[in-house]
Amino acid sequence: MGTENLLVDIKDGVALLTINRPKVLNALHTSVIAELQETFEALNANQAVKAVVITGSGEKAFVAGADIAEMAVMDAQQALVFARTGQKLVNYIGTMPKPVIAAVNGFALGGGMELALACDFIYASENAKMGLPEVTLGIMPGFGGSQKFARLLGRSRANELIFTGKMLTAAEAKEWGIVNAVLPLAELVGKALETAARIAGNGLLGVAHVKEAIRRGLDMTEPDGMDYESVLFASLFASRDQKEGMGAFVEKRKPNFTGS
Ligand code: CAA
Repeated sequence: MGTENLLVDIKDGVALLTINRPKVLNALHTSVIAELQETFEALNANQAVKAVVITGSGEKAFVAGADIAEMAVMDAQQALVFARTGQKLVNYIGTMPKPVIAAVNGFALGGGMELALACDFIYASENAKMGLPEVTLGIMPGFGGSQKFARLLGRSRANELIFTGKMLTAAEAKEWGIVNAVLPLAELVGKALETAARIAGNGLLGVAHVKEAIRRGLDMTEPDGMDYESVLFASLFASRDQKEGMGAFVEKRKPNFTGS
């Protein structure tokens, strides 16, 4: 499975998706965004896939941004369509029930940083460099970066990072709470796959519901979020996975979850 610019490898319930345009540091051309959208939809529909890891090919970049050569000749109307296309993709990743881990193996800049931020969490290699350098090109972030960073980092850090366009090292990104782990490049994808496999062994309906509770809860007041949590919690008690998970605990055996 794969497309012109994407490699897809599915093993033991985990899909490894690699953006494969290393000559331009995996830059997101419209065609790559379309392939990503199509592939994420296919992986979401594929019963054999329980979790996804996304990375970039080569040792230099995850994704060095939206394709500047393509954007250089866009007018405002084309730029609006482009931003909305990228936002559709990041929103899809953020709302799809299956967990997605970004393995950032080098530069994650502009649209590449925004793609990583769309994922449920990020592991980075020691050589990774991250940021939103759009203002150095005379534009601003367009695939959700201003909104995501303001919520994740708070207004002051988001403002400084985006107004300067500076890049954070992997260690700085960890200190700022952008990445969960910093690993040697050679271990990065393996570690992300290992974490994905661990998640894939859990009750995926529970994982999907809590992904939704956390995402939507962040836009709610805490009492509304608690209320929403209780509704999703209760709905799981009508599932096969709840019977299986609790039954297996009582019977002292490994659960066999089906995500139903
Ligand atoms: N778009 C298109 N091509 C890109 C690219 C991008 N975002 N980033 C790198 N490339 C290309 C370069 O043009 C170069 O191609 P050629 O060999 O044909 O010249 C190739 O990839 C290798 O890049 P460099 O020679 O520049 O490599 P370097 O090691 O000297 O520098 C870098 C690496 C610092 C990442 C530098 O490439 C760079 O600054 N890239 C652009 C980063 C950027 O500004 N990203 C944000 C884009 S705007 C955006 O994403 C908008 C949005 O929010 C949606």
